[in-house]
Amino acid sequence: ADTLRLAVIPGDGIGQEVTAEALKVLTAVLGAQGEQVATTEYDLGARLYHRTGETLPDSVLEEVRGHDAILLGAVGDPSVPSGVLERGLLLKLRFALDHYVNLRPSKLYPGVATPLGQPGEIDFVVVREGTEGPYVGNGGALRVGTPHEIATEVSVNTAFGVERVVRDAFARAAARPRRKLTLVHKHNVLVHAGHLWRRTVEAVHAEFPDVSVDYLHVDAATIFLVTDPARFDVIVTDNLFGDILTDLAAAVTGGIGLAASGNVNPDRTAPSMFEPVHGSAPDIAGQQLADPTAAVLSVSLMLEHLGRTGAAARVDAAVTADLARRAAGEVGGRSTAAVGDALAAAAVA
Ligand code: NAD
Ligand code: IPM
Ligand code: MN
Repeated sequence: ADTLRLAVIPGDGIGQEVTAEALKVLTAVLGAQGEQVATTEYDLGARLYHRTGETLPDSVLEEVRGHDAILLGAVGDPSVPSGVLERGLLLKLRFALDHYVNLRPSKLYPGVATPLGQPGEIDFVVVREGTEGPYVGNGGALRVGTPHEIATEVSVNTAFGVERVVRDAFARAAARPRRKLTLVHKHNVLVHAGHLWRRTVEAVHAEFPDVSVDYLHVDAATIFLVTDPARFDVIVTDNLFGDILTDLAAAVTGGIGLAASGNVNPDRTAPSMFEPVHGSAPDIAGQQLADPTAAVLSVSLMLEHLGRTGAAARVDAAVTADLARRAAGEVGGRSTAAVGDALAAAAVA
């Protein structure tokens, strides 16, 4: 039988709790088709930082590279200065492993309450650039703490980086029934980066004539995500706009507890990494209150990426059924582990 070599980074806060449930579902669904999961767990995050001052040792990064995929929970802890773990662990992984496609689907499952659309109507995916933009850490501060302080965060957009993510987004749009791509940016103000994105979309469009293209400034995109989310099919956008839009997208399609993501290296030069969109949620951590569904759906994205499409569909179906039972009032008030147990059982039923 096949063995999936998986690097697991539970991280901080509810990352620990939801990752345990995602692994339950993964081992169950692959086990049912005679496959093994060989996990290597890495204790990275606040504990390692307090113990050694390290966030992602080079030796660990090199080891992680040897896996088929990475499952991550969440990073960030109130006891660590903001940005240390986020940049030093999570962004370091995304950058080092060239996760230039940050895939964040939003779909409305049957029974999930929203006044904004019917199940089947809202089904879009945000292709968020993952290795550039304001996230590169290009900037600095002068005269810190004085009335004359100057802080800069420079957004880096390269023709190479924009083109590769735009091409990936077009290919995804071309493979979907509605074949529609929306570029979201702010080229009325961010003229340098904005025009590069716009020209790149125009140029790559020639290779995908069946895909229809439109454009929204990011401020207007937030309007339509709330008033008419069904209009979207594939959204392509930069790293920071994509971060913000996908929390909003989660909120309008059932909540942050359902939002999954894949940090994908489409060229497969390094393992891709799958994680819920949400963070470590210190406000509810350690209490078994977190919904593990986002982490479980991230496993579904991972299975899809690894070509295990049947298993991916079984996980998705288990979530669909569980959400319907919640809507019917048949279940509720369950611990994180109880939801994970139910999903694991349903995925192999
Ligand atoms: P957050 O996503 O952790 O929490 C926002 C709100 O959503 C909180 O009220 C939280 O309780 C709730 N929530 C999140 N996930 C939930 C779940 N599965 N079930 C139920 N409720 C859930 O965002 P934040 O509060 O802005 O950030 C907290 C920490 O996490 C920070 O250190 C931040 O940097 C980090 N963070 C990490 C990631 C990541 O690892 N990918 C993502 C976002 C934030
Ligand atoms: C996310 C998070 C991260 C991001 C942070 C924690 C670096 O908000 O995965 O959405 O901004 O990408
Ligand atoms: Mn975010």
